[in-house]
Amino acid sequence: MLRIVTNNLAATHKLGEAIGKNLKGDETLALVAPLGGGKTSFTQELAKGLGIKKLVISPTFVLERTYKGRHPLHHFDMYRIEVEDADSTGLSDILGEAVVVVEWAEKLKSVLPEDTIWATIKIVGENTREFIFEYPESRSYVFQNVK
Ligand SMILES: Nc1ncnc2c1ncn2[C@@H]1O[C@H](COP(=O)(O)OP(=O)(O)OP(=O)(O)O)[C@@H](O)[C@H]1O
Ligand SMILES: [Mg+2]
Repeated sequence: MLRIVTNNLAATHKLGEAIGKNLKGDETLALVAPLGGGKTSFTQELAKGLGIKKLVISPTFVLERTYKGRHPLHHFDMYRIEVEDADSTGLSDILGEAVVVVEWAEKLKSVLPEDTIWATIKIVGENTREFIFEYPESRSYVFQNVK
């Protein structure tokens, strides 16, 4: 478990980028946070750390967007999805084959791999967010040099 508090958007960006740089290409990151928690902001810079030049935008209305970088990134947003539909999202086909970031991941806990990295973000104040990362030992390299 790792707890990191960011006191502004820039700090969340820095956190996302540092994690993105450490990714090997087959990780699933499950983001759990309220509206405006910072899931998309975190993902944008994680993408930058993966060498993705294109700006990552919220996939709320398209469900999924794919980006090409050092490794491919599949960015999902399950906000509008019913759990029964999870299998029809194409998600299960790519888990473990690419970097997969899922917003509102708590909706499909049962389909995510056992070695998923869970990030729970809490809104502490207008500009302050608390990130709690939970992950298996096999994924601890993702947090190297992350603080
Ligand atoms: N420390 C911080 N980290 C991240 N975002 C912050 C922080 N402080 C303020 N913010 C603001 O919070 C908002 C986060 O929005 P963002 O779209 O990233 O959240 P989200 O969790 O993806 O929301 P949604 O549930 O709508 O998908 C932005 O407007 C950002 O400027
Ligand atoms: Mg979002």
